[in-house]
Amino acid sequence: MAMASARIGPSILTADLLRLGEAIADAETAGVDYIHVDVMDGHYVPNITFGPVMVRTVRRATELPVDVHLMIDAPERFISEFAEAGSDTITVHLEAVTHVHAVLTQIREHGVRRGIAINPTTSLGLLDDVLPFCEQVLLMSVNPGFGGQTFIPTALGRIDRLRQMIESRGLQCDIQVDGGIKASNIGRVVQAGATMIVAGSAVFSPDVPVDEAVRALRRGIQ
Ligand code: DX5
Ligand code: ZN
Repeated sequence: MAMASARIGPSILTADLLRLGEAIADAETAGVDYIHVDVMDGHYVPNITFGPVMVRTVRRATELPVDVHLMIDAPERFISEFAEAGSDTITVHLEAVTHVHAVLTQIREHGVRRGIAINPTTSLGLLDDVLPFCEQVLLMSVNPGFGGQTFIPTALGRIDRLRQMIESRGLQCDIQVDGGIKASNIGRVVQAGATMIVAGSAVFSPDVPVDEAVRALRRGIQ
């Protein structure tokens, strides 16, 4: 079987915010491919985190792509703010948007990569007509809202099915998987077809240095 590979992006959700600049620099030195910012509004998910100010702050701290995951209701209200703050990718949740094509068009008009996210049991069929209008699909492998949750194993079959949907139509669309990814399961996630990995607590935790954590994830892929 061909050797699979994937880009790895740490989520700053579980980083020590008092030393965020150092945490991002450590991750960059360790060779991560992008930085993932989890935006939560307390409506779409039962937690509140960051806004455009944080995206602007992360933008200043790194040359790496800034990948913004909006877990907010009616995200069309804030696309301009997040684009102007320096997002390279903006991902919105299918379940939180009424006019999906319109919001993806809005993101593209800002010259930003378009992502669509779906929750662990939202039907993949709903993506059928969306795929031509986005550069990445984010499959949640936990219920969105918190870092440090356990990977839901049915995500593996969903990654495989989504990969087939994309390949059979000859589309170029990244499959990003987010939630509960560790060195112990990243291999199966990538083998199933994930091309982008989000890792929060596996990279930023008080227990393991960032470079060691990233090395363990890379080893898990081989
Ligand atoms: C969950 C977020 C994830 C989360 C990942 O709502 O979208 O990005 O921070 O954290 P871990 O890897 O700890 O599950
Ligand atoms: Zn996320």
